[in-house]
Amino acid sequence: MIKIKKIFDQIESKKLSNVEILQIIQEKYGYVKLEILDEICKKLKIPKSKIFGVLTFYSQFSTQERGKYLITVCDGTACHIKGGNRIIDMLKNDFNLEDGETTKDKRFTLQIVRCLGSCFLAPVCMINTSYYGNMDDKKLKKILKELK
Ligand code: FES
Repeated sequence: MIKIKKIFDQIESKKLSNVEILQIIQEKYGYVKLEILDEICKKLKIPKSKIFGVLTFYSQFSTQERGKYLITVCDGTACHIKGGNRIIDMLKNDFNLEDGETTKDKRFTLQIVRCLGSCFLAPVCMINTSYYGNMDDKKLKKILKELK
């Protein structure tokens, strides 16, 4: 039995938007667990098509289990020109990560995006919710090795 009463209470008491509902689920489990989402849709009578539209629109949401650290690397034009591709190559070669994959030890998940909205800091990446500008492959490798 899935214990989701606390999530229901949180959602019902605040009349949250679909984005906020998905954020709560992802915050609790690290990703959007579809069986939890099903339960919530049934209980709150939310059409699945509506919430799935939101779920698939925003890249911040994932239905796949993620690692402890989500590494988001920008491969937009500004970042690519300034060496963002070398960061991606390092993650592929040194951490055996492709876009959307998680390391076997569940520490890191790689997500490649088109723009993080901070082109003036290119190349840019994020680790969970923290931004890192003027990044390069060596700096990122050092940061990742220091994470517990
Ligand atoms: S292109 Fe990388 S932040 Fe915009």
